[in-house]
Amino acid sequence: MLMLACGDGTPIPPGLLTGIMDMTSVPSQRGLWDAWHAHARGADAEPVHREFIDRYLFLLPRPGEARPLLELGCGQGHDALYVAGRGYSVNALDLSAAAVERANRNLEAHPGADAVFLQHDTAMPLPFGGEAFDGVYSYLALHYFDDSTTRAIFVELHRVLRPGGTLAFCVKSVSDPLYGKGDMLEPDMYSLNGHVRHFFDRRYAADLLRSWDAVRITESQGHYLDSAAPSGLLQVIARRPSSAGAVATD
Ligand SMILES: C[S@@+](CC[C@H](N)C(=O)[O-])C[C@H]1O[C@@H](n2cnc3c(N)ncnc32)[C@H](O)[C@@H]1O
Repeated sequence: MLMLACGDGTPIPPGLLTGIMDMTSVPSQRGLWDAWHAHARGADAEPVHREFIDRYLFLLPRPGEARPLLELGCGQGHDALYVAGRGYSVNALDLSAAAVERANRNLEAHPGADAVFLQHDTAMPLPFGGEAFDGVYSYLALHYFDDSTTRAIFVELHRVLRPGGTLAFCVKSVSDPLYGKGDMLEPDMYSLNGHVRHFFDRRYAADLLRSWDAVRITESQGHYLDSAAPSGLLQVIARRPSSAGAVATD
């Protein structure tokens, strides 16, 4: 029996998959994620995220002095609500309408939290003006795009961050146990049971950020939610240069 797994290991019952696959070689990811988010995931931010987020917030201006933050691929909003609980204003986006609905439901349990959840595909231009954010972060949600889309996304991240603003993200790395499994779509990009992943290595991350400052790339391992096998991860922090200038796109 075909059993899809996403969210890094959790099986999705085949009955949930009706209509998910399209007729191209790259399956629609939105239906897959809607199915995954039909169930509540992660009642609280797991320790790996909290460590990641705390280290990130330490690099930002204090809440009262900061412009809003942006989260990409926020899922059910646990990290955004944690960040809002620390006093920041957060805009958090996700492809999945089911995720955004759950996030809004979770928001109700946090009165006063300054968080806005929006459905948005990260592959599309961000619905914000330039230099709107002091920080952008993303946990396991920037490794779903082909190379040209990924590069366009990083141009967008540069655009919406203020000069000197800080980007932090965590993606699946080429050391992940799922690397190389399934159909290869592009170098380091595979589709496994309908789930597309683009695994990063240090060189790729550094190339994406070659016109950024203070780039720090750390390889690690971590468990996502209740996954049994540890994921291979790349955690990256970079700063948009303070001096104005366009980011290289070639
Ligand atoms: C592994 S989950 C991580 C969710 C959350 N950041 C967390 O750590 O719990 C990946 C998230 O990325 C979202 N996602 C996948 N493709 C996306 C896209 N093209 N645009 C925006 N979000 C996307 C999924 O809906 C899912 O919520």
